Amino acid sequence: MSAPPWWSTAVLYQIYPRSFADANGDGVGDLPGIRRRLDHLVRLGVDGVWLSPFYRSPMADFGYDVSDHCDVDPVFGTLADFDALLADCHAAGLRVVVDLVPNHTSDEHPWFVASRSSRDDPRRDWYVWRDPAPDGGPPNNWIASFLPEPAWTYDEATGQYYLHQFLPQQPDLNWANPEVEAAVHDVMRFWLDRGVDGFRIDVAHGLGKDPELADDPEDLLPQPHVGHNDRPETHPILQRMRSLVDGYPGDRMLVGEVYLLDTHRVAPYYGSGDELHLAFNFPPLFAPWEAEAWRGQLATTYGLLDPVGAWPTWVLSSHDAPRHRTRYGGSEERARAAAALLLGLRGTPFLYAGEELGLLDADVPPERVVDPGGRDGCRAPIPWEPTAGHGWPVEPWLPFPPEVETHSAADEWADPRSTLDLYQRLLSARRASPALRHGEQRVLDTPPGVLGWLRTAGADRRAVLVNFTDRPVELEGTEALGATAGWIVEVASDGVGEGSRNVGRLGPDQALWLRPA
Ligand code: GLC
Repeated sequence: MSAPPWWSTAVLYQIYPRSFADANGDGVGDLPGIRRRLDHLVRLGVDGVWLSPFYRSPMADFGYDVSDHCDVDPVFGTLADFDALLADCHAAGLRVVVDLVPNHTSDEHPWFVASRSSRDDPRRDWYVWRDPAPDGGPPNNWIASFLPEPAWTYDEATGQYYLHQFLPQQPDLNWANPEVEAAVHDVMRFWLDRGVDGFRIDVAHGLGKDPELADDPEDLLPQPHVGHNDRPETHPILQRMRSLVDGYPGDRMLVGEVYLLDTHRVAPYYGSGDELHLAFNFPPLFAPWEAEAWRGQLATTYGLLDPVGAWPTWVLSSHDAPRHRTRYGGSEERARAAAALLLGLRGTPFLYAGEELGLLDADVPPERVVDPGGRDGCRAPIPWEPTAGHGWPVEPWLPFPPEVETHSAADEWADPRSTLDLYQRLLSARRASPALRHGEQRVLDTPPGVLGWLRTAGADRRAVLVNFTDRPVELEGTEALGATAGWIVEVASDGVGEGSRNVGRLGPDQALWLRPA
């Protein structure tokens, strides 16, 4: 049997460059800052990074509004800085996945500047332009994300509306035009030629549009997004991206943001092994911290993906949603148990920078709010040091998260009870175990409030038990204990009992990783 591809056994770590580390002292993180902190990632034990956009951008959506896909924004550094970061990552054994934002550009991108300059411009049709409705209003009833306002903005000069699924500063590209596809493929080649290991495709589910631009059903408004979500036109687009990356040596990978909140609709984005290698599956991210909810998420995810040979992904936190510690009510113990759950599941886990420190979302006072999508809290800067400034040379662009005095990376590296130490133990145990990296998974019978499963690869076996309640639970008489009696606690989310025998009891909000004695 050939070795599983790297992206199926890897743990990837998302870096939001603005908030990671600031080398040049302007209060915004940058590529040289990331380079200086690579030792943190190597010591932590992740296999690669996904970098959120660092391209030239007016920053209306903090980099997800790209004005030049093939250059680095000066706030983040230079192309030479990128090359140096990539080389350092590869030398350290870390893969590098970059964000690709193909659904839209900035309104300051030269493509859009040309497109809006006149109805006759050769690039007019690179974006979605339409005449006003008979009453002068937008061409249809589509609603944009974030604001929610019409997904159309009127351009006085040329007398038409342009489409934008997000901000007015993020006009949607017209993927029905083959020149657009060719231009985006050139962007992909630019980064593949530089040596990146893959792309995280932004809004992968939204590239194709209804050619009729029919109204969305009124009863679903204001959040239906039917005409520009999950359209059949999107699949051939992804197939051709897949062919492009498969033409490169070295197992380059596509992971798509398939933001459909329904795993039934996510599964088709893997195609028959000819679309995305991996797709984000967001329903688990929004599931409550309850054993039954997670039992359902596991059943749905594996039930839909396994039959079509699709490898799952798991993610608890990102730059778009409140951090999981915040979502689960603020308990750090619970967030730690969630880490043992995430890293113990069959599939590719994605960590979001700062979750390994057990960070909460920042409380962002109204005068410091900058994101039109309300996502500032989870984008708070990473505290590196316990001292004033926390490793940031000047006041960063967003306030620090709470508990910054006790949750800096330096403090946590020095404390064997820290959440950072737990993540390191989990990642090291996972790396050492074929069962955890790519083994089969079977859910065990467990008492209410507990979820447990076995992982198996050949002779290698592990078990994961998670107590979702804030009370101790006895496993006496359950399959969960029968299958693991006498096993050794390899990692405990609260650090309690590691190295001793499984006694069939889980502490409140405790998760255990067990191995045969
Ligand atoms: C994706 C990104 C998000 C961004 C949006 C528009 O959802 O993850 O941060 O705002 O696309 O590009």
